[in-house]
Amino acid sequence: MTFDDQEYLSRYPFIEKVLISSEDITRRVRQLGNDISNDYKDSTPIFVCILKGAYPFLADLTRCVSIEHEVDFMAVSSYGGGTQSSGVVKIEKDLKANITDRDIILVEDIIDTGLTIDNLIALLKVRNPRSIRVAAFVDKKIARKVDVPLHYTGFEIPNEFVIGYGLDYDEKYRNLPFIGVMKA
Ligand code: IMP
Repeated sequence: MTFDDQEYLSRYPFIEKVLISSEDITRRVRQLGNDISNDYKDSTPIFVCILKGAYPFLADLTRCVSIEHEVDFMAVSSYGGGTQSSGVVKIEKDLKANITDRDIILVEDIIDTGLTIDNLIALLKVRNPRSIRVAAFVDKKIARKVDVPLHYTGFEIPNEFVIGYGLDYDEKYRNLPFIGVMKA
């Protein structure tokens, strides 16, 4: 844990613990950047940041990637409301890029039930990209309801509600440099 992580813990007493420290995040994101750079040596992929939560991961990951690439942004919401993801996604903000025949890397903050990313992949496949892969910062595998292929995963975490590094509680705490668990 860095001094900054410690600072935030004392400022926000509702955080129970740091699950993934900022140092571990830096190390892991660098590895993922290397993996992606090796895998896409002969391509110019488009990193698609799924807003809002994936913005810190996109920013850090792309700075660890040594190949040419583009970035684009997309925002989706789940139909149905409530606390459970229905998975049926509505596009709130669409891509600018034409993705036909392009290699796409969907950059996600967290995969929980998997319903959102599963539906999003189905929506994008209709546009005939050459390939679609998913880079997810954290994977709550135990909560999965549909099987989704995750090509690049930062960390697997237990079934707990987490905040930080893009993940919010009521739109707040996305700025935390670590992944933390809130007190129940
Ligand atoms: P799912 O994979 O369709 O269930 O939904 C994933 C979305 O649920 C993520 O993009 C987050 O917005 C939200 N989410 C799931 N688990 C958490 C969490 O622990 N903290 C914050 N947001 C979460």
